[in-house]
Amino acid sequence: MTQPIAQPAQSTVPASKVLDRVLVLEMVRVTEAAAIGAAKLIGRGDEKAADAAAVEAMRAALNELYMDGTVVIGEGERDEAPMLFIGEKVGLAPGKGPKIDIALDPLEGTTITAKAGPNALAVLAVAEEGGLLNAPDVYMDKIAVGPGYPDGIIDLDRTVTENVTALAQAKGVAPSDIVACVLDRTRHDDIITELRGLGCGIVLISDGDVAGVIATTNEDTGIDIYVGQGGAPEGVLAAAALRCVGGQFKGRLVFRNDDERARAKKWGITDLNKQYDLTELAKGDCIFAATGVTDGSLLAGVKRKKSGVMTTESVVMRASSGTVRWVRGEHRAKV
Ligand code: FBP
Repeated sequence: MTQPIAQPAQSTVPASKVLDRVLVLEMVRVTEAAAIGAAKLIGRGDEKAADAAAVEAMRAALNELYMDGTVVIGEGERDEAPMLFIGEKVGLAPGKGPKIDIALDPLEGTTITAKAGPNALAVLAVAEEGGLLNAPDVYMDKIAVGPGYPDGIIDLDRTVTENVTALAQAKGVAPSDIVACVLDRTRHDDIITELRGLGCGIVLISDGDVAGVIATTNEDTGIDIYVGQGGAPEGVLAAAALRCVGGQFKGRLVFRNDDERARAKKWGITDLNKQYDLTELAKGDCIFAATGVTDGSLLAGVKRKKSGVMTTESVVMRASSGTVRWVRGEHRAKV
């Protein structure tokens, strides 16, 4: 199932001493715990229960790590999320351990999980304090391609046709050979019509655009470009992954009302029309980890063997080294 998702990035990002002190592999334990927590609710038709199980398990695992962690992207604001809310402190060593900012989505793909569909993940990204954009829970316009293309090949200020044409030229193929991944939403009707007009292939996904963006870095998926509007928090998580493996990503927050604009200002965002680049969404050294909940293009989902052993598949990557580690876990009930 697992495939290398990109050629190793030639990283010029300096390694963070703060992140050195948090074992990279420890992050996998955290996403594994969330995925296993959610797995028992796969196909049970209950999004909320699946999300709650993942949240609880992820929080317990984070609280076992020696760090002074702060959730900067989480389950919502304090008054709406009982656990892993934005601003919540996690870790064993508040005030003493390394100061880490954490963006997390214990269950990326709640509906997918409830319906036993593909590509649900437990994900998180960590960076030094201030390294991750405090994105409010609004939509974000996103466009992404995998590694190996000239800088600036995609831009949200260009039309879909202009972006696809530039990409096709750089790849040495016709625009009709390009395959795009798009969330299946009516708000994307214009994008889909434009892509169809170019003759592009379109992989329409029901949910889960973190996996959709990362799919552009894996040639085996056949996906060349991700385009469309999804959650801003998911945009930051996907950007952190691309920081580690290469690729390009642009994002712009989308505000539907004054309340959303006010929330952005509260989190310190002053330029509401800004087009963010990868390094503005996830700065400096960062770590991205994900564990499959259901089978997908990136990772196999959690499986329960007859023996009761649970198996997991995870990936953990670091921007400063460009290292990508694939981790298979076998989990036995504690005795
Ligand atoms: P949840 O896991 O929170 O349900 O998010 C799934 C998701 O598909 C994201 O991957 C995506 O960014 C967002 O929802 C799209 O939002 P919407 O369903 O409102 O179009």
